[in-house]
Amino acid sequence: VRHFVVIGQRARASPDFLLVDIPSTSGRLDVLIRCLRAALLVSHGVRRDTVVYLSLLGDPERPRTLRFDGPAAKYMRPDERSLATVVKKVLATAADGGGEFRLVREGIAIADGGPERVWNELAACALYLLEEGAPDIRGTSLETENVAFVLGDHVGLPGDVREELIARGARPISVGPLSLHAEDAVTLVANELDRRASS
Ligand SMILES: C[S@@+](CC[C@H](N)C(=O)[O-])C[C@H]1O[C@@H](n2cnc3c(N)ncnc32)[C@H](O)[C@@H]1O
Repeated sequence: VRHFVVIGQRARASPDFLLVDIPSTSGRLDVLIRCLRAALLVSHGVRRDTVVYLSLLGDPERPRTLRFDGPAAKYMRPDERSLATVVKKVLATAADGGGEFRLVREGIAIADGGPERVWNELAACALYLLEEGAPDIRGTSLETENVAFVLGDHVGLPGDVREELIARGARPISVGPLSLHAEDAVTLVANELDRRASS
């Protein structure tokens, strides 16, 4: 299984954003939603081998993390507004309060807390940190099964999350020489895995 973890430093875990103006009313949840689409959806379908975590850390008092399971996901339309509507409904639901993921609808779960809720679920995975300036993915031998890739949002990855990942053995890799939008980095990684899996 492939996993993508996107850390939204500014994205608020509140359903009170406006669908007509997601970027300026949500702390740039739009960035995370585009990453979700890039990781989970292909033309006319869902990647059944992919799980996506979105950590919403924009309100330090109330961080929450969403999990989208490709194997179980249903009725995911690819446009940003539809995905944002799903996220809005999920954010209107309380998590279980104990820090565990609670299933809210088929294939979608929510937990109170940030990325610390995720690492245990990825204990069996090879961890990669997507980072500008790191060794290029093309020259790197890469696990293609049970892998997890961690990305930052428009302001990058928080320093403490990076330290935690390095301590857990994560390898920094890059997808090219330029600083890209996070969703484009996701697309390039997914493509690289697709190519390696089919060769
Ligand atoms: C818009 S970039 C972050 C830019 C931010 N100003 C910074 O310096 O960290 C968003 C995320 O996409 C990923 N990313 C962007 N370009 C990349 C590249 N060339 N290689 C690997 N990851 C990249 C990283 O995870 C980054 O945190």
